[in-house]
Amino acid sequence: MSNPLSKTIVIFGASGDLTARKLIPSLYRLDRKNRLPEGVRIVGVSRTKLSHLEFQSRMGAAVKQFAGADWNQEDWDQFAPRLQYCSGDASTSEGLASLEEWFKAHEGAGGARLFYLSVSPDLYGSIVSQLAGAGLTKVPSPELWRRIIIEKPFGHNTLSAQLLNEEIRQFLKEDQIYRIDHYLGKETVQNLLVFRFGNTLFEPLWNANYIDHVQITVAETVKVGSRGDYYDRAGVLRDMFQNHLLQIMAIVAMEAPARYSADMLRNEKVKLLEAITIPDPKEASESIWTGQYEGYLAEKGVRPDSKTPTYSAIRLNVDNWRWRGVPFFLRSGKALSSRTSEVQIQFRCPPHLMFSLPPGEKLECNRLAISIQPNESIHLRFQSKVPDQEKMTIAPSEMEFQYGKSYSGVPIPEAYERLLQDALGGDASLFMRSDEIERSWAIIEPFLNVTESPDAPIPEEYPLGSMGPVGADGFMDKNLREWLPLYGNRPS
Ligand SMILES: NC(=O)c1ccc[n+]([C@@H]2O[C@H](COP(=O)([O-])OP(=O)(O)OC[C@H]3O[C@@H](n4cnc5c(N)ncnc54)[C@H](OP(=O)(O)O)[C@@H]3O)[C@@H](O)[C@H]2O)c1
Repeated sequence: MSNPLSKTIVIFGASGDLTARKLIPSLYRLDRKNRLPEGVRIVGVSRTKLSHLEFQSRMGAAVKQFAGADWNQEDWDQFAPRLQYCSGDASTSEGLASLEEWFKAHEGAGGARLFYLSVSPDLYGSIVSQLAGAGLTKVPSPELWRRIIIEKPFGHNTLSAQLLNEEIRQFLKEDQIYRIDHYLGKETVQNLLVFRFGNTLFEPLWNANYIDHVQITVAETVKVGSRGDYYDRAGVLRDMFQNHLLQIMAIVAMEAPARYSADMLRNEKVKLLEAITIPDPKEASESIWTGQYEGYLAEKGVRPDSKTPTYSAIRLNVDNWRWRGVPFFLRSGKALSSRTSEVQIQFRCPPHLMFSLPPGEKLECNRLAISIQPNESIHLRFQSKVPDQEKMTIAPSEMEFQYGKSYSGVPIPEAYERLLQDALGGDASLFMRSDEIERSWAIIEPFLNVTESPDAPIPEEYPLGSMGPVGADGFMDKNLREWLPLYGNRPS
């Protein structure tokens, strides 16, 4: 039936893993919270032939499996009729015919459309071009918007990202394109913005005068699993650094935007990324340490002589007034001892200490840890006097904020919920603009060149369940720093 203000979400890749594990469970949860636009329909598209009912039943099983405590049969029965399915190869015009028919039958005079490309990256360009060729992305009026969410990875180096941007911008305006980095949808990453710019306490100290260095860690416990073939071509630098780690770094280090608006926020992030020094080949090779977990070379899909790192630690410098001389250490790896993402701000030590410390002891200088996942929390470490000692004795103490305690009964939502809701509402603040993506690739590329050149160093093997290669500690020694203990896996 014709409904001029209808809204449709079209998911390309509807029979795939991401749709089942994240996208449909997130849309189901949004529906339970009454946050989906009234009457919104969700159309799945992929080549596998399925009826609407078969798709609904598959997705029901997925939500039951992946939505955990949020599963509720009654809520599902209300949500399921929103799901529709059109089979077809979306990279060909014939393949889109069934979707076009669906729009004709259900939109009548027209409706707003959110397309989600949850398909292999080599299909992004061709699907956008086919959608545009079929007139499905043409914007008839501002209320009948057309937006496209594009999954990661966006390109595999600077040039391919530039070419992909050029390709899709032939058909779409920048404000129609929502490039996803699901880390930005995480509550704690957004809380970094609030922590920095909703308070006065830390901002005067947030600079080279008071901060010695910054560490950002994204550690995983999982191995490559069934993605060996993809991973061996990508490696940890593409998988984690170009996107998640640099995005977190940009939010930690950028200047305050005047308003919380997509462009103002992204302008500040780009300015920060622009200020990161791009190392020359020698500097890049001295500013990276790489590792490979034990047994990686025997994984399915991995080349037996592969030098692809599954662990990297890099040092970046920001060449601006605020951060001059403050190194940023970024590290990430697979098969590590804990799954944790954390930002650590190491403040400088007092210029002079009037208290004497026991022989051989060093003062632990102020430290702020922001745990992004799991155990979402903020910890501030400072010195305090130990009571009732013979002599003046000082020791580190801690103040902490735990999401789980302060907001008990409010579970942390899945990042994709926030991102889907924002895209439906036209808020691109938590999505990446073309210039951000291209600059991020330019920063990481010299490190990729180190690990992918014919004489690339053999990554140092590290034991499963460790915190990475021993050499990464030596790398920090060389930089006159040490890795700080992580909070993420402490019980809340
Ligand atoms: N899974 C994750 O956790 C995750 C995390 C971050 C990013 N991503 C990104 O999300 C995207 C999807 O990942 P995934 O893990 O869901 O992949 P996947 O399980 O391999 O699913 C790919 C989907 O694309 C469909 N497809 C392939 N060719 C098509 C075509 N020509 N026309 C229409 N549909 C087509 C496939 O279904 P048919 O064979 O039936 O056509 C399948 O539904 C990728 O870009 C990936 O990098 C995934």
